[in-house]
Amino acid sequence: MKQLRLGVNIDHVATIRNARGGKHPDPLRAALMAAAAGADGITAHLREDRRHISDEDIERLAREIDRPLNLEMAATEEMLAIALKHKPHAVCLVPEKREERTTEGGLDVAAGHNLLAPFVRELAAAKIRVSLFVEAQPVQLAVARALGAHVVELHTGAYCDAHAHGDFATRDAILARLKAGAKEAARLGLEVHAGHGLSFETVGPVAAIPEVVELNIGHFLVGEAIFTGLDASIRRMRQLMDEARGGAGSALA
Ligand code: PXP
Repeated sequence: MKQLRLGVNIDHVATIRNARGGKHPDPLRAALMAAAAGADGITAHLREDRRHISDEDIERLAREIDRPLNLEMAATEEMLAIALKHKPHAVCLVPEKREERTTEGGLDVAAGHNLLAPFVRELAAAKIRVSLFVEAQPVQLAVARALGAHVVELHTGAYCDAHAHGDFATRDAILARLKAGAKEAARLGLEVHAGHGLSFETVGPVAAIPEVVELNIGHFLVGEAIFTGLDASIRRMRQLMDEARGGAGSALA
């Protein structure tokens, strides 16, 4: 099986920086360190309220990293203009509500088809790979395909939450849906990514899904870096992903 790509999301390095409003810790420095530790790409979410990543961060990342940049953003005219200016390798369209703490659910692409269509078209025309962050539901995947997206990123948040709450029956049911969704997305010709909330404990079974080619992971890696350093936390995640991919170590811890 092809090696699974790891996209390291550096948003929460910016969260810590912004707590004091200065320049430290620098998300670009984290991105360069992540690349050295084995990240295949760097992911950053420019939120409409700029709560973590700033416009200047995107500009510096687009200019200075030597890994593909995956820009997560809401489908708004403002964000589209920023994406077209910097031309990241990929854009992942995500839902955004100001009151939420994080991206709590996938995009409802089925309901939002008409709104999303021009964004997918313009990004694709600029040769940016377009990814849609969705729940692993057949209708969402079919509409993502019809919209002309290249990639779907399957939302793993509910799976991780169920694990954290010790609700293993729910966790396993969601994992089964993720597996079926990945298979269906690949059958439709979509590239399959997954992410949100993944940790050392939960990454294995998702990494073992054969159709998944990329995981995007941020909050846990940055949190773990407090204890072990960013390099070690990324290397450990990479190792767990590779073990799961190789068939070993895919059991939940
Ligand atoms: N994938 C997408 C589309 C996201 O919006 C996020 C969070 O910004 C992630 C992955 C990473 O989630 P986490 O920070 O929980 O690992």
